[in-house]
Amino acid sequence: MKDEKKGLHRPVYECTVCAKEIPWEGGRLRLICDEAACHGERKTPSPIQVREGDGHDRIALLEASRRFFSSTQLHAFGEVFPLAHTSFLVAEFAGERAGFLSYSLHFPKQDEVAIVLMAVLPGFQGRGVGRALEGALEAFCRPKEMHRILIASTNDNIPGLYFYQRLGYRFKSLSVGEAETALVDHGMPGARGFGGIPIRDELVLVKDLARHP
Ligand SMILES: CC(C)(COP(=O)(O)OP(=O)(O)OC[C@H]1O[C@@H](n2cnc3c(N)ncnc32)[C@H](O)[C@@H]1OP(=O)(O)O)[C@@H](O)C(=O)NCCC(=O)NCCS
Repeated sequence: MKDEKKGLHRPVYECTVCAKEIPWEGGRLRLICDEAACHGERKTPSPIQVREGDGHDRIALLEASRRFFSSTQLHAFGEVFPLAHTSFLVAEFAGERAGFLSYSLHFPKQDEVAIVLMAVLPGFQGRGVGRALEGALEAFCRPKEMHRILIASTNDNIPGLYFYQRLGYRFKSLSVGEAETALVDHGMPGARGFGGIPIRDELVLVKDLARHP
C-alpha cells in the first residue's frame, strides 16, 4: 500500500506549455481560445493504432493503473474492478504503447458498457490517442447492440471531465462523498487530485450511441 500511495506523485499529465510531466497535484488550468496558434498544432497524420490488449499489454496496463490511480483495483459505479481480469484496448502511437482503455461489457445494464480506466501516458497526450481509444470502443460496441457507454470520474479531474464532454458525454449522476469513501478503503484517506483539489465525489457521464451515429 505504501508503494500505491506513491502513485499519486507520479506524472499523469503533460504540461501543454513546457511539456513537463506533472503529477495530479501539480496540475493547474488556464484558458485558451480555439485558434490553431493557441490551441497547438496537432501532429497529423497521427500514427495511432488501437487493438485488443494481450498478456504482455496487461503488465503495462497494470503499471499505468498504478501510476494514474494508485491501484489496480478500481472503484467505480459502486463496484470494484480488478484490472487483472478486465477486457481492454491498447493504443499505439508510432509503434509505442501510448494509452489504455479498460471496459466492462453489459455493465451496469445488459445494453451498456462501462469504461473502467482511460489513461494516456503524459508524453502522448493531446495527440488524439484518447479520442482514438474511445472511438475504437464505440466501433466495437455498436455491432454488439450496446446503446450507452458510461464513465465514472471524480470531482477534481476537470481535464478528464472536459475531455469526455468534448467527446459527447453528458452528466448522468453525482454521488457525493463516494470517492472519499473509496480512498479510505485504499488506505489513502484525504488524498488530493488534480490541482490539489480534495478527491470527494464521483460523477458518472454517459454517451447515448443512438444520438451519436
Ligand atoms: C484525459 C485524457 C484521457 C485525454 O487523452 P488525450 O489523448 O490527451 O486526448 P486527445 O488528444 O484525444 O484529445 C481529445 C480532446 O480532449 C481534449 N484534451 C486533450 N488533452 C487534454 C487534457 N490534458 N486536458 C483536457 N482536455 C484535453 C482536447 O481538447 C481534445 O479535444 P479537441 O481536440 O477537440 O479540442 C488524458 O489526458 C489522460 O490520460 N489523463 C489522465 C487520466 C484521466 O484523467 N483519465 C480519464 C478520467 S477517468
